[in-house]
Amino acid sequence: MVGELADEALIGKEVVLAGWVGRRRDLGGLIFIDLRDRSGIVQVVFNPETSPAAHSIAEKLGSEDVISVSGVVVERPPGTVNPSIPTGKIDVVADFLEVLSKSKTPPFYITENLDVDEVLRLRYRYLDLRRPDMQRNIILRHRLTMAVRNYLDSEGFIEVETPMFIKSTPEGARDYVVPSRVNPGKFFALPQSPQIFKQILMVSGFDKYFQLARCFRDEDLRADRQPEFTQIDIEMSFVDRDDILALIEGLMAHCVKEVLGKQLSTPFPRMSYAEAMKRYGSDKPDIRFGMEIVDISDVVKDSGFGVFRNAIGEGGMVGAIVAPSCSDYSRQQVKELENVVKEFGAAGLISAAVSRNEEGEEILTSQVSKFLTDAELSGIARTTGAKEGDLVLIVAGSQDIVLESLGRLRLHLGSKLDLIPEEEMAFVWITEFPMFEFSQEEQRLVAVHHPFTSPLEEDMDLIETEPLNMRANIYDLVLNGVELGSGSIRIHRRDVQERVFTALGLSEEEAKEKFGFLLEAFEYGAPPHGGIAIGFDRMAMLFAGRKTIRDVIAFPKTQKAVCPMTGAPGNLSEEQLKELHIRVVNMGKIGTSSD
Ligand code: AMO
Repeated sequence: MVGELADEALIGKEVVLAGWVGRRRDLGGLIFIDLRDRSGIVQVVFNPETSPAAHSIAEKLGSEDVISVSGVVVERPPGTVNPSIPTGKIDVVADFLEVLSKSKTPPFYITENLDVDEVLRLRYRYLDLRRPDMQRNIILRHRLTMAVRNYLDSEGFIEVETPMFIKSTPEGARDYVVPSRVNPGKFFALPQSPQIFKQILMVSGFDKYFQLARCFRDEDLRADRQPEFTQIDIEMSFVDRDDILALIEGLMAHCVKEVLGKQLSTPFPRMSYAEAMKRYGSDKPDIRFGMEIVDISDVVKDSGFGVFRNAIGEGGMVGAIVAPSCSDYSRQQVKELENVVKEFGAAGLISAAVSRNEEGEEILTSQVSKFLTDAELSGIARTTGAKEGDLVLIVAGSQDIVLESLGRLRLHLGSKLDLIPEEEMAFVWITEFPMFEFSQEEQRLVAVHHPFTSPLEEDMDLIETEPLNMRANIYDLVLNGVELGSGSIRIHRRDVQERVFTALGLSEEEAKEKFGFLLEAFEYGAPPHGGIAIGFDRMAMLFAGRKTIRDVIAFPKTQKAVCPMTGAPGNLSEEQLKELHIRVVNMGKIGTSSD
Protein backbone atom coordinates (compact mmCIF):
# COMPACT_ATOMS: atom_id res chain seq x y z
CA MET A 1 0.00 0.00 0.00
CA VAL A 2 1.10 3.53 -0.78
CA GLY A 3 0.80 4.69 2.84
CA GLU A 4 3.40 2.12 3.99
CA LEU A 5 6.09 3.96 2.01
CA ALA A 6 6.20 6.68 4.67
CA ASP A 7 8.55 4.29 6.48
CA GLU A 8 12.06 5.60 5.76
CA ALA A 9 13.50 2.11 6.17
CA LEU A 10 12.20 1.40 2.66
CA ILE A 11 14.56 3.91 1.02
CA GLY A 12 16.63 2.12 -1.58
CA LYS A 13 14.19 -0.82 -1.78
CA GLU A 14 12.26 -1.98 -4.85
CA VAL A 15 8.47 -1.79 -4.38
CA VAL A 16 5.40 -2.79 -6.39
CA LEU A 17 2.36 -0.54 -6.17
CA ALA A 18 -1.09 -0.36 -7.68
CA GLY A 19 -3.66 2.40 -7.58
CA TRP A 20 -5.24 5.35 -9.33
CA VAL A 21 -3.52 8.20 -11.14
CA GLY A 22 -4.10 11.54 -9.44
CA ARG A 23 -2.26 14.59 -10.72
CA ARG A 24 0.25 14.21 -13.58
CA ARG A 25 2.95 16.76 -14.35
CA ASP A 26 5.24 16.64 -17.37
CA LEU A 27 8.42 18.53 -16.57
CA GLY A 28 10.49 18.39 -19.72
CA GLY A 29 11.71 14.83 -19.72
CA LEU A 30 10.61 13.79 -16.23
CA ILE A 31 6.97 12.85 -15.61
CA PHE A 32 5.57 12.99 -12.06
CA ILE A 33 2.31 11.40 -11.03
CA ASP A 34 0.50 11.18 -7.72
CA LEU A 35 -0.42 7.54 -7.25
CA ARG A 36 -3.38 7.09 -4.91
CA ASP A 37 -4.86 4.14 -3.04
CA ARG A 38 -6.92 3.79 0.13
CA SER A 39 -3.88 4.42 2.32
CA GLY A 40 -2.75 7.71 0.79
CA ILE A 41 -0.72 9.08 -2.12
CA VAL A 42 2.87 8.85 -3.25
CA GLN A 43 4.76 10.63 -5.99
CA VAL A 44 6.04 8.37 -8.78
CA VAL A 45 8.73 9.63 -11.15
CA PHE A 46 9.18 8.38 -14.71
CA ASN A 47 12.66 9.08 -16.06
CA PRO A 48 13.27 8.21 -19.75
CA GLU A 49 16.78 7.18 -18.80
CA THR A 50 15.64 4.70 -16.13
CA SER A 51 12.94 3.09 -18.24
CA PRO A 52 12.10 4.48 -21.67
CA ALA A 53 9.19 2.02 -21.96
CA ALA A 54 7.56 3.10 -18.68
CA HIS A 55 8.15 6.76 -19.53
CA SER A 56 6.46 6.51 -22.88
CA ILE A 57 3.37 4.81 -21.38
CA ALA A 58 3.32 7.46 -18.61
CA GLU A 59 3.10 10.20 -21.24
CA LYS A 60 -0.41 8.97 -22.07
CA LEU A 61 -1.69 8.48 -18.52
CA GLY A 62 -4.88 10.29 -17.62
CA SER A 63 -6.54 11.07 -14.29
CA GLU A 64 -8.07 8.05 -12.58
CA ASP A 65 -6.40 5.46 -14.83
CA VAL A 66 -5.62 2.34 -12.80
CA ILE A 67 -1.97 1.35 -12.99
CA SER A 68 0.59 -1.01 -11.57
CA VAL A 69 4.12 0.33 -11.07
CA SER A 70 7.39 -1.05 -9.80
CA GLY A 71 10.32 1.09 -8.86
CA VAL A 72 12.85 2.09 -6.27
CA VAL A 73 12.08 4.27 -3.25
CA VAL A 74 14.44 7.28 -3.20
CA GLU A 75 14.83 10.20 -0.84
CA ARG A 76 13.61 13.45 -2.37
CA PRO A 77 16.21 16.10 -3.01
CA PRO A 78 16.17 18.82 -0.33
CA GLY A 79 13.76 21.60 -1.21
CA THR A 80 11.27 19.25 -2.85
CA VAL A 81 10.01 17.64 0.37
CA ASN A 82 6.22 17.92 0.79
CA PRO A 83 5.48 18.05 4.55
CA SER A 84 1.70 17.93 4.02
CA ILE A 85 1.64 14.19 3.15
CA PRO A 86 3.18 11.29 5.11
CA THR A 87 5.10 10.08 2.03
CA GLY A 88 6.32 13.61 1.22
CA LYS A 89 9.98 12.80 1.86
CA ILE A 90 10.29 10.13 -0.83
CA ASP A 91 9.65 9.41 -4.49
CA VAL A 92 9.30 6.10 -6.28
CA VAL A 93 11.43 6.07 -9.45
CA ALA A 94 9.55 3.74 -11.76
CA ASP A 95 11.19 1.02 -13.81
CA PHE A 96 7.96 -0.67 -14.89
CA LEU A 97 4.45 0.59 -15.62
CA GLU A 98 1.33 -1.25 -16.69
CA VAL A 99 -2.06 0.33 -17.32
CA LEU A 100 -4.65 -2.00 -15.77
CA SER A 101 -7.66 0.07 -16.69
CA LYS A 102 -8.28 3.41 -18.44
CA SER A 103 -10.69 6.00 -17.01
CA LYS A 104 -12.94 8.51 -18.69
CA THR A 105 -12.42 12.10 -17.53
CA PRO A 106 -14.23 12.21 -14.16
CA PRO A 107 -17.06 14.73 -13.72
CA PHE A 108 -15.32 16.25 -10.69
CA TYR A 109 -11.89 16.26 -9.10
CA ILE A 110 -11.04 13.42 -6.75
CA THR A 111 -9.92 15.72 -3.99
CA GLU A 112 -10.61 16.76 -0.37
CA ASN A 113 -13.27 19.35 0.45
CA LEU A 114 -14.88 19.19 -2.95
CA ASP A 115 -17.41 21.92 -3.61
CA VAL A 116 -19.86 20.46 -6.14
CA ASP A 117 -23.57 19.76 -6.13
CA GLU A 118 -24.31 16.81 -3.85
CA VAL A 119 -26.63 15.19 -6.36
CA LEU A 120 -23.69 15.00 -8.79
CA ARG A 121 -21.58 13.44 -6.05
CA LEU A 122 -24.30 10.87 -5.36
CA ARG A 123 -24.83 10.19 -9.07
CA TYR A 124 -21.11 9.25 -9.27
CA ARG A 125 -20.83 7.98 -5.70
CA TYR A 126 -18.11 5.48 -6.68
CA LEU A 127 -15.90 8.45 -7.58
CA ASP A 128 -17.02 10.50 -4.61
CA LEU A 129 -16.07 7.63 -2.31
CA ARG A 130 -12.55 7.66 -3.79
CA ARG A 131 -11.99 11.11 -2.30
CA PRO A 132 -9.72 11.02 0.75
CA ASP A 133 -12.22 12.66 3.13
CA MET A 134 -14.96 10.20 2.18
CA GLN A 135 -12.54 7.28 2.54
CA ARG A 136 -11.68 8.54 6.02
CA ASN A 137 -15.38 8.82 6.94
CA ILE A 138 -16.22 5.30 5.82
CA ILE A 139 -13.13 3.86 7.53
CA LEU A 140 -13.99 5.75 10.73
CA ARG A 141 -17.48 4.27 10.57
CA HIS A 142 -15.98 0.80 10.26
CA ARG A 143 -13.75 1.42 13.27
CA LEU A 144 -16.75 2.62 15.26
CA THR A 145 -18.63 -0.55 14.31
CA MET A 146 -15.75 -2.65 15.61
CA ALA A 147 -15.47 -0.60 18.81
CA VAL A 148 -19.21 -0.95 19.50
CA ARG A 149 -19.24 -4.71 18.88
CA ASN A 150 -16.12 -5.33 20.96
CA TYR A 151 -17.37 -3.26 23.88
CA LEU A 152 -20.83 -4.79 23.99
CA ASP A 153 -19.41 -8.29 23.57
CA SER A 154 -17.04 -7.66 26.47
CA GLU A 155 -20.03 -6.59 28.56
CA GLY A 156 -21.78 -9.88 27.87
CA PHE A 157 -24.20 -8.74 25.15
CA ILE A 158 -25.39 -11.09 22.40
CA GLU A 159 -26.02 -9.76 18.90
CA VAL A 160 -29.26 -11.16 17.50
CA GLU A 161 -30.62 -10.39 14.03
CA THR A 162 -34.31 -9.63 13.92
CA PRO A 163 -36.45 -9.86 10.76
CA MET A 164 -36.79 -7.22 8.08
CA PHE A 165 -40.19 -8.40 6.88
CA ILE A 166 -42.46 -7.75 9.82
CA LYS A 167 -45.93 -6.65 10.75
CA SER A 168 -45.33 -3.12 11.99
CA THR A 169 -43.49 -1.48 14.84
CA PRO A 170 -44.85 1.91 15.76
CA GLU A 171 -42.15 4.58 16.03
CA GLY A 172 -44.17 7.50 14.77
CA ALA A 173 -43.22 7.43 11.08
CA ARG A 174 -44.87 5.81 8.07
CA ASP A 175 -43.89 2.25 7.19
CA TYR A 176 -42.13 1.18 4.03
CA VAL A 177 -44.11 -1.81 2.83
CA VAL A 178 -43.34 -4.91 0.80
CA PRO A 179 -46.07 -6.81 -1.01
CA SER A 180 -46.38 -10.52 -0.40
CA ARG A 181 -46.73 -12.41 -3.69
CA VAL A 182 -47.84 -15.61 -2.02
CA ASN A 183 -50.40 -13.85 0.19
CA PRO A 184 -52.34 -11.73 -2.29
CA GLY A 185 -53.32 -8.31 -0.99
CA LYS A 186 -51.08 -8.63 2.07
CA PHE A 187 -48.03 -6.52 2.83
CA PHE A 188 -45.05 -6.75 5.12
CA ALA A 189 -43.75 -3.62 6.81
CA LEU A 190 -40.03 -3.00 7.02
CA PRO A 191 -39.07 -2.37 10.65
CA GLN A 192 -38.96 1.22 11.86
CA SER A 193 -36.89 -0.34 14.64
CA PRO A 194 -36.51 -3.84 16.15
CA GLN A 195 -38.48 -2.61 19.20
CA ILE A 196 -41.04 -5.40 19.54
CA PHE A 197 -38.61 -8.18 18.70
CA LYS A 198 -36.05 -7.01 21.23
CA GLN A 199 -38.71 -6.96 23.93
CA ILE A 200 -39.75 -10.47 22.92
CA LEU A 201 -36.08 -11.52 23.17
CA MET A 202 -36.19 -10.39 26.80
CA VAL A 203 -39.13 -12.72 27.38
CA SER A 204 -36.98 -15.41 25.72
CA GLY A 205 -34.27 -14.92 28.32
CA PHE A 206 -31.55 -13.18 26.26
CA ASP A 207 -31.10 -10.63 29.00
CA LYS A 208 -28.47 -8.53 27.20
CA TYR A 209 -29.28 -8.06 23.52
CA PHE A 210 -27.79 -5.75 20.95
CA GLN A 211 -27.89 -5.38 17.21
CA LEU A 212 -26.44 -3.00 14.66
CA ALA A 213 -29.89 -2.82 13.17
CA ARG A 214 -31.04 -1.34 9.90
CA CYS A 215 -34.28 0.62 10.33
CA PHE A 216 -36.66 2.02 7.73
CA ARG A 217 -38.86 5.08 8.11
CA ASP A 218 -40.87 6.90 5.53
CA GLU A 219 -40.65 10.45 6.86
CA ASP A 220 -39.53 13.88 5.73
CA LEU A 221 -35.78 13.85 5.31
CA ARG A 222 -33.27 16.26 6.78
CA ALA A 223 -29.50 16.42 7.18
CA ASP A 224 -29.66 13.93 10.04
CA ARG A 225 -32.43 11.69 8.71
CA GLN A 226 -32.39 8.97 6.07
CA PRO A 227 -35.16 6.59 5.02
CA GLU A 228 -32.90 3.68 5.97
CA PHE A 229 -30.47 4.12 8.79
CA THR A 230 -28.65 2.12 11.42
CA GLN A 231 -29.18 1.92 15.15
CA ILE A 232 -27.07 0.46 17.91
CA ASP A 233 -30.10 -1.23 19.37
CA ILE A 234 -29.88 -2.43 22.96
CA GLU A 235 -32.22 -4.13 25.44
CA MET A 236 -31.54 -5.46 28.94
CA SER A 237 -33.51 -7.33 31.58
CA PHE A 238 -33.49 -6.83 35.36
CA VAL A 239 -32.10 -3.33 35.12
CA ASP A 240 -33.17 0.15 36.06
CA ARG A 241 -32.61 3.38 34.17
CA ASP A 242 -29.24 4.12 35.73
CA ASP A 243 -27.81 0.74 34.67
CA ILE A 244 -28.62 1.58 31.06
CA LEU A 245 -27.22 5.11 31.27
CA ALA A 246 -24.00 3.80 32.81
CA LEU A 247 -23.65 1.17 30.06
CA ILE A 248 -24.03 3.78 27.32
CA GLU A 249 -21.60 6.16 29.03
CA GLY A 250 -19.06 3.31 29.06
CA LEU A 251 -19.78 2.55 25.41
CA MET A 252 -19.32 6.18 24.35
CA ALA A 253 -16.11 6.58 26.38
CA HIS A 254 -14.76 3.38 24.80
CA CYS A 255 -15.63 4.53 21.26
CA VAL A 256 -14.16 8.00 21.79
CA LYS A 257 -10.94 6.45 23.08
CA GLU A 258 -10.67 3.78 20.39
CA VAL A 259 -11.65 5.89 17.41
CA LEU A 260 -10.66 9.44 18.33
CA GLY A 261 -7.91 8.67 20.84
CA LYS A 262 -9.49 11.02 23.38
CA GLN A 263 -10.58 10.68 26.97
CA LEU A 264 -14.25 11.31 27.70
CA SER A 265 -15.33 12.20 31.19
CA THR A 266 -18.29 10.28 32.62
CA PRO A 267 -20.96 10.26 33.96
CA PHE A 268 -22.67 12.67 31.58
CA PRO A 269 -24.74 15.52 33.03
CA ARG A 270 -28.48 14.84 33.37
CA MET A 271 -31.31 17.25 32.94
CA SER A 272 -35.06 16.75 33.08
CA TYR A 273 -37.07 17.53 29.97
CA ALA A 274 -38.74 20.41 31.83
CA GLU A 275 -35.38 21.94 32.75
CA ALA A 276 -33.99 21.55 29.21
CA MET A 277 -37.02 23.30 27.76
CA LYS A 278 -36.84 26.08 30.34
CA ARG A 279 -33.12 26.77 29.94
CA TYR A 280 -32.53 25.98 26.27
CA GLY A 281 -35.97 25.91 24.65
CA SER A 282 -35.14 22.46 23.29
CA ASP A 283 -35.18 18.82 24.38
CA LYS A 284 -31.83 18.42 22.61
CA PRO A 285 -29.81 21.29 24.01
CA ASP A 286 -26.36 22.14 22.73
CA ILE A 287 -24.68 22.76 26.07
CA ARG A 288 -21.30 23.67 24.57
CA PHE A 289 -22.15 27.31 25.10
CA GLY A 290 -24.24 29.42 27.48
CA MET A 291 -26.68 32.13 26.40
CA GLU A 292 -29.46 30.39 28.33
CA ILE A 293 -33.05 31.58 28.27
CA VAL A 294 -34.06 33.73 31.24
CA ASP A 295 -37.66 34.03 32.36
CA ILE A 296 -38.25 37.76 33.03
CA SER A 297 -42.01 37.42 33.56
CA ASP A 298 -41.77 38.36 37.23
CA VAL A 299 -40.00 41.62 36.38
CA VAL A 300 -42.57 42.76 33.82
CA LYS A 301 -45.81 41.11 34.95
CA ASP A 302 -47.41 44.42 35.94
CA SER A 303 -45.78 46.37 33.14
CA GLY A 304 -47.49 49.28 31.41
CA PHE A 305 -46.36 47.60 28.19
CA GLY A 306 -49.39 45.64 26.98
CA VAL A 307 -47.43 43.06 25.01
CA PHE A 308 -45.67 41.86 28.17
CA ARG A 309 -48.62 42.21 30.54
CA ASN A 310 -51.05 40.45 28.23
CA ALA A 311 -48.75 37.54 27.42
CA ILE A 312 -48.36 36.82 31.14
CA GLY A 313 -52.04 37.50 31.84
CA GLU A 314 -52.97 34.86 29.26
CA GLY A 315 -50.84 32.24 30.99
CA GLY A 316 -47.78 32.80 28.81
CA MET A 317 -44.39 34.25 29.63
CA VAL A 318 -41.76 36.83 28.71
CA GLY A 319 -38.34 35.34 28.05
CA ALA A 320 -34.98 36.76 27.10
CA ILE A 321 -31.50 35.82 25.96
CA VAL A 322 -28.42 37.98 26.04
CA ALA A 323 -26.31 38.35 22.89
CA PRO A 324 -22.84 39.28 24.11
CA SER A 325 -21.22 42.40 22.62
CA CYS A 326 -24.07 43.00 20.18
CA SER A 327 -25.38 46.30 21.56
CA ASP A 328 -24.32 48.07 18.36
CA TYR A 329 -26.55 45.87 16.16
CA SER A 330 -28.32 47.90 13.48
CA ARG A 331 -32.07 47.88 13.02
CA GLN A 332 -31.53 45.65 9.99
CA GLN A 333 -29.47 43.13 11.98
CA VAL A 334 -32.14 42.97 14.67
CA LYS A 335 -34.75 42.46 11.94
CA GLU A 336 -32.82 39.41 10.76
CA LEU A 337 -32.90 38.02 14.28
CA GLU A 338 -36.60 38.76 14.47
CA ASN A 339 -37.13 36.70 11.33
CA VAL A 340 -35.59 33.72 13.12
CA VAL A 341 -38.07 33.89 16.02
CA LYS A 342 -41.00 34.61 13.72
CA GLU A 343 -40.26 31.38 11.87
CA PHE A 344 -41.07 29.58 15.11
CA GLY A 345 -44.31 31.38 15.80
CA ALA A 346 -43.19 34.43 17.81
CA ALA A 347 -45.13 37.62 17.09
CA GLY A 348 -41.99 39.74 17.26
CA LEU A 349 -38.65 40.37 18.92
CA ILE A 350 -37.86 43.22 21.27
CA SER A 351 -34.24 44.25 21.65
CA ALA A 352 -32.59 46.33 24.35
CA ALA A 353 -28.99 47.50 24.24
CA VAL A 354 -27.00 47.74 27.45
CA SER A 355 -24.79 50.76 28.07
CA ARG A 356 -23.48 52.67 31.08
CA ASN A 357 -24.78 56.04 32.16
CA GLU A 358 -22.68 58.87 33.59
CA GLU A 359 -23.09 57.44 37.09
CA GLY A 360 -21.55 54.21 35.86
CA GLU A 361 -24.84 52.25 36.11
CA GLU A 362 -25.88 49.79 33.43
CA ILE A 363 -28.93 51.03 31.54
CA LEU A 364 -31.11 49.49 28.84
CA THR A 365 -32.13 51.35 25.70
CA SER A 366 -34.90 49.90 23.60
CA GLN A 367 -37.55 50.81 21.07
CA VAL A 368 -40.05 50.09 23.87
CA SER A 369 -38.17 51.94 26.68
CA LYS A 370 -40.90 54.52 26.91
CA PHE A 371 -43.43 51.88 27.94
CA LEU A 372 -41.23 50.50 30.71
CA THR A 373 -40.32 51.97 34.06
CA ASP A 374 -36.71 52.44 35.13
CA ALA A 375 -37.24 49.72 37.71
CA GLU A 376 -38.40 47.33 34.99
CA LEU A 377 -35.46 48.21 32.74
CA SER A 378 -32.91 47.73 35.48
CA GLY A 379 -34.75 44.59 36.62
CA ILE A 380 -34.37 43.12 33.12
CA ALA A 381 -30.64 43.93 33.10
CA ARG A 382 -30.20 42.40 36.55
CA THR A 383 -32.24 39.24 35.94
CA THR A 384 -30.59 38.49 32.61
CA GLY A 385 -27.12 39.39 33.87
CA ALA A 386 -26.59 41.55 30.77
CA LYS A 387 -23.46 43.68 30.80
CA GLU A 388 -22.40 46.87 29.06
CA GLY A 389 -22.16 46.23 25.31
CA ASP A 390 -24.66 43.32 25.33
CA LEU A 391 -27.97 43.12 23.55
CA VAL A 392 -30.99 41.67 25.39
CA LEU A 393 -33.44 39.92 23.06
CA ILE A 394 -36.96 39.45 24.36
CA VAL A 395 -39.98 37.41 23.20
CA ALA A 396 -43.43 37.47 24.81
CA GLY A 397 -46.19 34.94 24.16
CA SER A 398 -47.26 31.42 25.03
CA GLN A 399 -44.68 29.37 26.90
CA ASP A 400 -44.12 26.91 24.03
CA ILE A 401 -43.54 29.62 21.46
CA VAL A 402 -41.30 31.80 23.67
CA LEU A 403 -39.09 28.88 24.65
CA GLU A 404 -38.82 27.32 21.20
CA SER A 405 -38.23 30.58 19.33
CA LEU A 406 -35.62 31.82 21.83
CA GLY A 407 -34.00 28.38 21.77
CA ARG A 408 -33.69 28.62 17.98
CA LEU A 409 -32.40 32.17 18.20
CA ARG A 410 -29.83 31.03 20.74
CA LEU A 411 -28.51 28.41 18.29
CA HIS A 412 -28.54 30.90 15.44
CA LEU A 413 -26.51 33.42 17.44
CA GLY A 414 -24.26 30.74 18.90
CA SER A 415 -22.97 29.85 15.46
CA LYS A 416 -23.13 33.39 14.06
CA LEU A 417 -21.08 34.76 16.94
CA ASP A 418 -18.72 31.77 16.92
CA LEU A 419 -19.55 30.86 20.50
CA ILE A 420 -19.58 27.09 19.91
CA PRO A 421 -16.30 25.25 20.59
CA GLU A 422 -16.48 22.87 17.62
CA GLU A 423 -13.95 20.37 19.02
CA GLU A 424 -15.83 19.76 22.25
CA MET A 425 -18.08 16.70 22.72
CA ALA A 426 -20.85 17.71 25.10
CA PHE A 427 -23.04 14.73 25.99
CA VAL A 428 -26.12 15.23 28.14
CA TRP A 429 -28.97 12.94 29.22
CA ILE A 430 -32.49 14.33 29.03
CA THR A 431 -34.91 12.47 31.33
CA GLU A 432 -38.51 12.52 32.57
CA PHE A 433 -40.20 13.29 29.27
CA PRO A 434 -43.97 13.60 29.14
CA MET A 435 -45.64 10.23 28.57
CA PHE A 436 -48.22 11.52 26.08
CA GLU A 437 -48.76 14.46 23.79
CA PHE A 438 -51.91 15.57 22.03
CA SER A 439 -51.80 15.06 18.27
CA GLN A 440 -53.74 17.83 16.52
CA GLU A 441 -53.67 15.78 13.34
CA GLU A 442 -55.18 12.65 14.87
CA GLN A 443 -57.15 14.49 17.58
CA ARG A 444 -56.03 12.03 20.25
CA LEU A 445 -53.23 11.32 22.68
CA VAL A 446 -50.12 9.75 21.18
CA ALA A 447 -47.11 8.31 22.98
CA VAL A 448 -44.12 10.65 23.09
CA HIS A 449 -41.75 7.67 22.74
CA HIS A 450 -43.72 4.53 21.94
CA PRO A 451 -46.65 2.75 23.58
CA PHE A 452 -44.43 0.23 25.42
CA THR A 453 -42.73 2.88 27.53
CA SER A 454 -43.31 2.73 31.26
CA PRO A 455 -44.76 5.76 33.00
CA LEU A 456 -42.89 7.00 36.07
CA GLU A 457 -44.36 4.95 38.87
CA GLU A 458 -45.29 8.00 40.94
CA ASP A 459 -47.29 9.42 38.00
CA MET A 460 -49.17 6.22 37.11
CA ASP A 461 -52.40 7.27 38.73
CA LEU A 462 -52.63 10.41 36.59
CA ILE A 463 -53.31 8.23 33.54
CA GLU A 464 -57.07 8.37 33.68
CA THR A 465 -57.34 11.98 34.94
CA GLU A 466 -54.39 14.09 33.76
CA PRO A 467 -52.54 12.03 31.17
CA LEU A 468 -50.80 15.09 29.71
CA ASN A 469 -49.13 15.74 33.06
CA MET A 470 -47.76 12.23 33.29
CA ARG A 471 -44.04 11.68 32.99
CA ALA A 472 -42.48 8.61 31.45
CA ASN A 473 -39.27 6.75 32.19
CA ILE A 474 -37.69 7.93 28.94
CA TYR A 475 -34.09 9.04 28.50
CA ASP A 476 -32.57 10.70 25.46
CA LEU A 477 -28.86 10.98 24.83
CA VAL A 478 -27.93 14.31 23.27
CA LEU A 479 -24.54 15.18 21.81
CA ASN A 480 -23.77 18.75 20.73
CA GLY A 481 -27.44 19.55 20.17
CA VAL A 482 -28.18 16.37 18.19
CA GLU A 483 -30.50 13.64 19.51
CA LEU A 484 -28.16 10.70 19.41
CA GLY A 485 -30.32 8.11 21.08
CA SER A 486 -33.52 7.45 22.85
CA GLY A 487 -34.76 4.73 25.15
CA SER A 488 -37.01 3.82 28.02
CA ILE A 489 -37.84 1.38 30.73
CA ARG A 490 -40.68 -0.72 29.33
CA ILE A 491 -43.98 -1.84 30.60
CA HIS A 492 -43.80 -5.53 31.47
CA ARG A 493 -47.17 -5.89 33.13
CA ARG A 494 -50.21 -6.52 31.04
CA ASP A 495 -52.56 -4.43 33.23
CA VAL A 496 -50.33 -1.36 32.91
CA GLN A 497 -49.98 -1.91 29.17
CA GLU A 498 -53.75 -2.10 28.83
CA ARG A 499 -54.25 1.18 30.71
CA VAL A 500 -51.75 2.86 28.38
CA PHE A 501 -53.47 1.46 25.29
CA THR A 502 -56.78 2.74 26.64
CA ALA A 503 -55.30 6.21 27.18
CA LEU A 504 -54.05 6.09 23.59
CA GLY A 505 -57.58 5.32 22.41
CA LEU A 506 -56.77 1.76 21.34
CA SER A 507 -59.63 -0.62 21.94
CA GLU A 508 -58.93 -4.11 23.24
CA GLU A 509 -59.55 -5.53 19.77
CA GLU A 510 -57.25 -3.03 18.08
CA ALA A 511 -54.51 -3.64 20.63
CA LYS A 512 -54.91 -7.38 20.11
CA GLU A 513 -54.85 -7.05 16.34
CA LYS A 514 -51.73 -4.86 16.40
CA PHE A 515 -49.67 -6.20 19.27
CA GLY A 516 -51.53 -9.32 20.42
CA PHE A 517 -48.42 -11.46 20.10
CA LEU A 518 -46.47 -9.15 22.41
CA LEU A 519 -49.23 -9.02 24.99
CA GLU A 520 -49.49 -12.78 24.84
CA ALA A 521 -45.72 -13.16 25.25
CA PHE A 522 -45.91 -10.98 28.35
CA GLU A 523 -48.23 -13.55 29.90
CA TYR A 524 -45.47 -16.17 29.91
CA GLY A 525 -43.04 -14.59 32.36
CA ALA A 526 -41.81 -11.19 31.19
CA PRO A 527 -38.82 -9.88 33.09
CA PRO A 528 -38.64 -6.18 33.91
CA HIS A 529 -36.65 -4.69 31.06
CA GLY A 530 -35.56 -1.54 29.29
CA GLY A 531 -33.31 -0.40 26.50
CA ILE A 532 -32.17 2.27 24.15
CA ALA A 533 -31.26 2.81 20.51
CA ILE A 534 -28.40 5.04 19.45
CA GLY A 535 -28.57 6.53 15.94
CA PHE A 536 -25.35 5.06 14.57
CA ASP A 537 -25.20 7.29 11.49
CA ARG A 538 -25.56 10.38 13.65
CA MET A 539 -22.88 9.09 15.98
CA ALA A 540 -20.50 8.49 13.05
CA MET A 541 -21.35 11.93 11.66
CA LEU A 542 -20.48 13.68 14.92
CA PHE A 543 -17.35 11.59 15.47
CA ALA A 544 -16.23 12.44 11.92
CA GLY A 545 -17.04 16.13 12.44
CA ARG A 546 -19.49 16.22 9.52
CA LYS A 547 -22.74 18.14 9.15
CA THR A 548 -24.84 15.47 7.43
CA ILE A 549 -25.23 11.72 7.93
CA ARG A 550 -25.02 11.32 4.14
CA ASP A 551 -21.26 11.82 4.52
CA VAL A 552 -20.88 8.71 6.67
CA ILE A 553 -23.20 6.44 4.68
CA ALA A 554 -21.62 4.82 1.63
CA PHE A 555 -24.75 4.95 -0.52
CA PRO A 556 -27.31 7.35 0.96
CA LYS A 557 -30.51 8.69 -0.56
CA THR A 558 -31.11 12.33 -1.44
CA GLN A 559 -33.50 14.59 0.50
CA LYS A 560 -36.16 13.32 -1.91
CA ALA A 561 -35.48 9.71 -0.88
CA VAL A 562 -34.02 8.65 -4.22
CA CYS A 563 -30.67 7.20 -5.25
CA PRO A 564 -29.27 9.21 -8.18
CA MET A 565 -26.73 6.47 -8.96
CA THR A 566 -29.04 3.49 -9.36
CA GLY A 567 -32.23 5.40 -10.06
CA ALA A 568 -34.09 3.72 -7.18
CA PRO A 569 -37.00 3.70 -6.59
CA GLY A 570 -37.93 2.41 -10.04
CA ASN A 571 -40.93 1.14 -11.90
CA LEU A 572 -42.12 -2.45 -11.91
CA SER A 573 -42.93 -4.33 -15.07
CA GLU A 574 -46.52 -5.26 -15.88
CA GLU A 575 -45.71 -8.91 -15.08
CA GLN A 576 -44.26 -8.08 -11.68
CA LEU A 577 -47.24 -5.93 -10.78
CA LYS A 578 -49.60 -8.66 -11.86
CA GLU A 579 -47.77 -11.29 -9.89
CA LEU A 580 -47.92 -9.08 -6.83
CA HIS A 581 -51.61 -8.39 -7.35
CA ILE A 582 -50.92 -4.66 -7.48
CA ARG A 583 -52.48 -2.11 -9.75
CA VAL A 584 -50.89 1.33 -10.00
CA VAL A 585 -53.43 4.07 -10.59
CA ASN A 586 -53.20 7.79 -11.37
CA MET A 587 -49.46 7.81 -11.79
CA GLY A 588 -49.56 9.98 -14.92
CA LYS A 589 -46.36 9.90 -16.89
CA ILE A 590 -44.09 8.64 -14.08
CA GLY A 591 -45.64 5.35 -13.14
CA THR A 592 -46.24 2.03 -14.81
CA SER A 593 -49.95 1.68 -14.94
CA SER A 594 -51.94 -1.41 -15.55
CA ASP A 595 -54.99 0.70 -16.25
P1 AMO B 1 -36.14 6.48 18.22
O1 AMO B 1 -37.27 6.47 17.28
O2 AMO B 1 -36.00 7.67 19.11
O3 AMO B 1 -36.22 5.25 19.23
O4 AMO B 1 -34.79 6.26 17.44
C1 AMO B 1 -33.53 6.14 18.12
C2 AMO B 1 -32.47 6.96 17.40
O5 AMO B 1 -32.37 6.59 16.03
C3 AMO B 1 -31.95 7.71 15.27
N1 AMO B 1 -32.89 7.95 14.17
C4 AMO B 1 -32.53 8.22 12.90
N2 AMO B 1 -31.34 8.35 12.33
C5 AMO B 1 -31.29 8.61 11.01
N3 AMO B 1 -32.38 8.73 10.22
C6 AMO B 1 -33.62 8.61 10.75
N4 AMO B 1 -34.69 8.71 9.95
C7 AMO B 1 -33.74 8.35 12.15
N5 AMO B 1 -34.79 8.17 12.99
C8 AMO B 1 -34.25 7.94 14.21
C9 AMO B 1 -31.89 8.89 16.21
C10 AMO B 1 -32.75 8.44 17.36
O6 AMO B 1 -32.39 9.05 18.58
N6 AMO B 1 -37.08 1.68 19.46
C11 AMO B 1 -36.73 3.00 20.00
C12 AMO B 1 -35.56 2.93 20.92
C13 AMO B 1 -35.82 2.28 22.24
O7 AMO B 1 -36.80 2.64 22.90
O8 AMO B 1 -35.03 1.40 22.62
C14 AMO B 1 -36.42 3.94 18.83
O9 AMO B 1 -36.28 3.55 17.70
O10 AMO B 1 -30.55 9.09 16.63
